[in-house]
Amino acid sequence: MSNAPLAFERMSAADRSRASAEFLDRLKTRRTVRHFSPEPVPIELIENAVRCAASAPSGANRQPWRFVVVADPDVKRRIRESAEAEERENYERRFPDEWLHALEPFETDWRKDHLEVAPYVIVVFRIDYGLEDSRRVKHYYVAESVGIATGFLLAALHWSGLATLVHTPSPMGFLNQVLERPANERPFVVIPAGYPAADARVPVIHKKELHEVMLVR
Ligand SMILES: Cc1cc2nc3c(=O)[nH]c(=O)nc-3n(C[C@H](O)[C@H](O)[C@H](O)COP(=O)(O)O)c2cc1C
Repeated sequence: MSNAPLAFERMSAADRSRASAEFLDRLKTRRTVRHFSPEPVPIELIENAVRCAASAPSGANRQPWRFVVVADPDVKRRIRESAEAEERENYERRFPDEWLHALEPFETDWRKDHLEVAPYVIVVFRIDYGLEDSRRVKHYYVAESVGIATGFLLAALHWSGLATLVHTPSPMGFLNQVLERPANERPFVVIPAGYPAADARVPVIHKKELHEVMLVR
């Protein structure tokens, strides 16, 4: 593999400090939104966010991800119907009481209208192995890589002024059929994205303080 000089512009101490504080301030305003406006969103915002996600590091640079951006109302409706069928089972039969109790503050139930209302639903797939001339190519650290890329995606969408919801209807196998994805791709998370509804409300939650999450040794 050939190499090339790193393109790296060293910032001044003042610029670094400002950039760090600005990024923190913006990221801290991100909240999971569960009520979306149907207002259209320019596709360019979604494309750039996916470009950001696809720039993420990955095990051996295998880039084991696929982002299926669903805008077609018919496909969104089919995703909603299948997700609601699974979620209804979860809420009414599969979830243990402890889990239902943990979900109470979020006032969620099996109904998932955001899957139809949000202008875009981005379905992130993990690609467990590659296929080249019907030969399997090994992928490394797939969950770690796709998790990092999804974090980039969420940060980019928020940075662009859009709201998101990370949603994991479980099980998610129906997404392979609805979105016609092959067996080496597995649904990772579903992310409705758009503007928040004008009357959107969010649960009051607490984030751990720095000293609770960071140790210096
Ligand atoms: C992997 C993952 C799965 C999630 N699944 C759901 C979900 O199915 N439904 C939902 O309403 N929120 C879901 N959430 C959102 C979390 O409830 C939310 O991120 C958490 O309460 C913190 O709130 P915040 O995102 O506003 O900071 C999920 C988040 C993650 C990271």
